[in-house]
Amino acid sequence: MTSTQSSPAHAGLVREYPAGSLAYPHRDLLGIGQMERHEILFLLDEAEQWVDLNRQKTKHSDALAGLTIINAFFEASTRTLLSFEIAGKRLGADVVNMHAATSSVKKGETLIDTAITLNAMRADAIVIRHGSSGAVELIADKVDCPVLNAGDGQHEHPTQALLDALALRHALRERGHSADDFTGLTVTICGDILHSRVARSNILCLTALGATVRLCAPPALMPAQVDAMGAQPFSDFDAALEGADVVMMLRLQTERMEGQFIPSAREYHHLFGLTKERLARAAPDALVMHPGPMNRGVEIDSEVADMIGRSIITRQVEMGVAIRMSALDVLTRKTRQVEGWA
Ligand code: CP
Repeated sequence: MTSTQSSPAHAGLVREYPAGSLAYPHRDLLGIGQMERHEILFLLDEAEQWVDLNRQKTKHSDALAGLTIINAFFEASTRTLLSFEIAGKRLGADVVNMHAATSSVKKGETLIDTAITLNAMRADAIVIRHGSSGAVELIADKVDCPVLNAGDGQHEHPTQALLDALALRHALRERGHSADDFTGLTVTICGDILHSRVARSNILCLTALGATVRLCAPPALMPAQVDAMGAQPFSDFDAALEGADVVMMLRLQTERMEGQFIPSAREYHHLFGLTKERLARAAPDALVMHPGPMNRGVEIDSEVADMIGRSIITRQVEMGVAIRMSALDVLTRKTRQVEGWA
């Protein structure tokens, strides 16, 4: 076996990786914090073939034919659940969705017993969203198949950060940027940083890929020691926007707030809402991102969210399917006995 393998060529680039399963040596995808930079780039590069497939009229592969994927969602979702379902189906797998609201969780079943039940059904991969930080890792310890974190509490949402990176890569490439990572790029993330798993995964992912990350939030919604994560904290949105290449807006996670964190939505919009006037402080062609769901008129104005040529919010959703196909493909290679992975 050679010591390296090549990525599928994209944009003329062929990257060398550690051979076979060493390119992604984990059974699960639990968080960006557990990944090396080359592992992030590997999943991004593997996603390129699925971006291409998803743009064809016929969007189907038999790569995962015969495999069963269970999407177990203990929290509401539109984008993540649907894109994992579409990803699994486009790869030819049998996909089953378990919604906690209509499951035996409602009858008092514990998380561990639910995990043991899913495992007994011999799933080949389980995708989990849960409201508690660490719950996905707990389930991963109890099952025999790969587990993918679709968002756990305030902890991580790794496939969101990966799809954001893929969307950003594509948007930059269309603008003629040749750099394949984000060195030299300044990304401002503004919103409820304290409660956001998206912010946490993105800080880890963007800094691993070389970007400078600025975080902006009201003091009550800024976690302590963000500088230890390699990000720069701001409480003045105008200062955080100055010259930024990318502005990523986050919603207020009211479902995770106990007590009053902001005086009012109106006041919040006045200080931290992204308006067209405020966006003018960023770099002249700055890109606008939002993981969704958006609260228009609170953290972002509609004329910014829908700004052609600047907003890549729908591109993020498109890339979500490709990234989830990449993750499902890579994590099931051992099961499928793909050469070098078995
Ligand atoms: N971005 C995101 O996780 O959206 P959903 O909650 O709709 O899955």
